[in-house]
This record gives sequence, C-alpha cells and structure tokens, in this order.
Amino acid sequence: MNNKKNCRVSGNPLSIITDFGNQPLGNGFLNEDEFNSEYFFHMQVGFCNKSKLFQLIDQPEPQKMFHENYAFYSSLSSHMQLHFKEFYNFISSQENYDRDSLVVELGCNDGILLENFSKKNLPHVGVEPSKNVAEVAEKKNVNVIQDFFNEDTVNQILKTYGHAEFFVAANVICHIPNIIELIQNIKLLLSKTGKVIFEDPYLGDVINKTSYDQIYDEHVFLFSAHSVQYMFDLFEMELIDLVPQSTHGGSMRYVIANKGVYEVSPVVTRILDEEKLTGIDTIEKLSEFDKNVRNSRKNLVSLLEKIKSEGNEVVGYAATSKSTTILNYCNIKSDLISRIYDTTPQKIGKFSPGMHIPIIDYKYFKDSDCKNTFLFAWNHFNEIIEKEENYTRSQGKWITHVPKIGFIK
Ligand code: TMP
Repeated sequence: MNNKKNCRVSGNPLSIITDFGNQPLGNGFLNEDEFNSEYFFHMQVGFCNKSKLFQLIDQPEPQKMFHENYAFYSSLSSHMQLHFKEFYNFISSQENYDRDSLVVELGCNDGILLENFSKKNLPHVGVEPSKNVAEVAEKKNVNVIQDFFNEDTVNQILKTYGHAEFFVAANVICHIPNIIELIQNIKLLLSKTGKVIFEDPYLGDVINKTSYDQIYDEHVFLFSAHSVQYMFDLFEMELIDLVPQSTHGGSMRYVIANKGVYEVSPVVTRILDEEKLTGIDTIEKLSEFDKNVRNSRKNLVSLLEKIKSEGNEVVGYAATSKSTTILNYCNIKSDLISRIYDTTPQKIGKFSPGMHIPIIDYKYFKDSDCKNTFLFAWNHFNEIIEKEENYTRSQGKWITHVPKIGFIK
C-alpha cells in the first residue's frame, strides 16, 4: 500500500476532499470462495493547491490492480472502436507525422488504437503489463512489449526502434502514481520535435456532473489543464493543444511538446481561463463537490429503498469498475440491486467487488421482467439505449446518478 499525505508531484501537503471509506479493487470481480480473502483499502481523495493535482491518498500496489487476469477489454465497445479510429486520424494528421514516425503507446490494451497503424505497416509499439489483453493485441499483429513502462523498457524501444515521434496513451496516465518518473522516461524516449498526446477523464466533467464513480483504485489522478501544465512545465515542456472528448463521461485530450517547438493553440488559454472561472483549481469548489457526492449517495439510497418498499426490483446494467465505487460508498447490496448484467466473459458468473452482487450474462437481460435498471455505464448511454430499445419500449425505466439521481427521461 502506498500512502501519500503529500502531493506526488509538488511534495506539498494534500487537503482531503472526500472520504469514500473502505473500497475493494474497482476491477476485482470475484468468486464466492474468494469473499473471505478480499482486499480492501481506505479510499480518500486529496488536492494539492500548488500542483492543482486531484489525487488518491492511498493506492494499492500496481501488481494488485494490473495483472494477467485484468478484466477490461477496450474493443468490446463499438463506440470505442470509432473513437480510436478518430484518435489514429488525429495522430496521423499532426504536422510532425510521416510514414517513418514511431508511435509508442502506453497501455495499449487489446490493440484498439495501434491496430490502425499495424494494418498499414506503420512503425508502432505498445507497452502493456496485462498479459491477457496484450496477447489479444499480438493476435492483431500489434507490436507489444509485455511489461510496465520504465527505463528498461525505454532502452529496449530505443535499441529496437529508435526515438518516438509520438508518445500516446488513452485512459492510462491517470493510473500511474510515479508520474515524475514517467515524464522523465518519456523525455528519454521522445525526439526533440516529438509530441505527447494523451487523454484521461477530465476533472472539470467529474465536478460538474458529480460523477464521483471516476474515482477508484486505478485512477490515482484526475487531471485538469492546470495540473498537466504544472507537471510538464517541470520538464521544460508545455501544453500546445487541448481537445475535449465525450469518452468516459467527459475526458480531455492533452497535446504536449518541448517548449517553443510548436505554436500554442488558443484553445489552451481558453480552457485554462475556463478552469479559473469555474474554480476547479480551488479548495472551495472541491468542498462543494464533496457535498454533492454525499447528497448523491443519500438520494440514490432513498430512491432504491423506495422502489423496494413498493415491492419492485432493481437490476444493474454493465458491471463497470466505476460501479464499484458507487456500490461500496453507498453500501448497496443485492437486496437493493439484485444482479448486474454485463457483456465481459471474465466477469460473468462472478460477483461484484465488495458488495458481492451476482454478474449475469447480458443476453439474459431481455428475459428479465424487472422494469427498473440502474445504468452503471452511463457514459455508454446511447450505445446501450440503441441495443436495448425493446426494454425501453416495454416500459422499462433507466436510473442514473449523473448529473443527478433519477430516472432517465
Ligand atoms: P467502462 O468503459 O465504463 O469501464 O465500462 C465497461 C463495462 O461495461 C464492461 O464490463 C462491459 C460493460 N458494458 C456492457 O455490459 N454493455 C455495453 O453495452 C457496454 C458499452 C459496456
């Protein structure tokens, strides 16, 4: 267990924003015989007024969270396939991109982004510590180094492929506690004109939507333009572009380069100004967020108890890692949400982390006569509504917690 009372980047003391109590691993879906040995940690988030980094105080060791049975496969969602095709287009349309540019992806998962490069025989390599997803990427002819990204991996890439023109990552950098070491290694790997392009859930969206379920063991940081600017400034690098994304309920794509190499897009100044205006870089605004999180819990439990008291059942849809935070923070067990339907083979037949709600194959959802469904994958709303239109047509109701608790109209 890593315990950080001080900011992982500036070293200044952290102000505690919200205490989520004891939480299991977000992706720790388990069998019944594992209930007694389940791992829990005290989950609190803190904020550093200097670096503006919003971060977990305690975090489990990486080996506990990312291992050969890591249950998340990016390519299972068709909307994500489209998203990564667009990400590929974004990279390959940068002014410093040509057919010889090496693209290195951190945490390439099942190759959802890099397959776009491999199909065209373009230089690329992914670094992925989770064996099962890395093997899926390799089957798609994606070049993968099965390891954590560190100085050894950098030297291996430099020896085999040379310097990277692009260092990219999607929903990965927010997982890495030692971000200073990460940026040091990126600097070693990147060419002088190289760009770092990464996207992660955006703190501004989490605060505006009270989507506190973005906070779980794997997400050690929730970034903003201010905090990203602070970290890379320490290495003579700067933000040159920002592109808001709708993925994961609201993300930001950050484009970073060595200082002075490229012109800075006016969008950078605009978003930095917006962050100042809304106050997401202040303790006051974050205290308001904490109040909203507590209200969200109170309102969700009241709604579920009301439905139960009327003799009705609630089921869950999509056993996301995010659902672990909601269920455990709100202490929602199978008496309030009887089961959760999901598409991931590695989760089906198991139980949800901490609260032990059964996970059922989503193909049985259409046979369920339950008319109240809590949509844990609220960020995939359009895709799911399309897929489950028969449920909605037969008077089935969807419950959400974003931006506030209630039925989706
Ligand atoms: P996440 O991307 O928000 O983490 O959600 C991933 C989980 O949601 C994964 O377990 C698969 C599940 N899921 C479904 O069960 N049905 C769906 O239609 C979608 C999009 C996701």
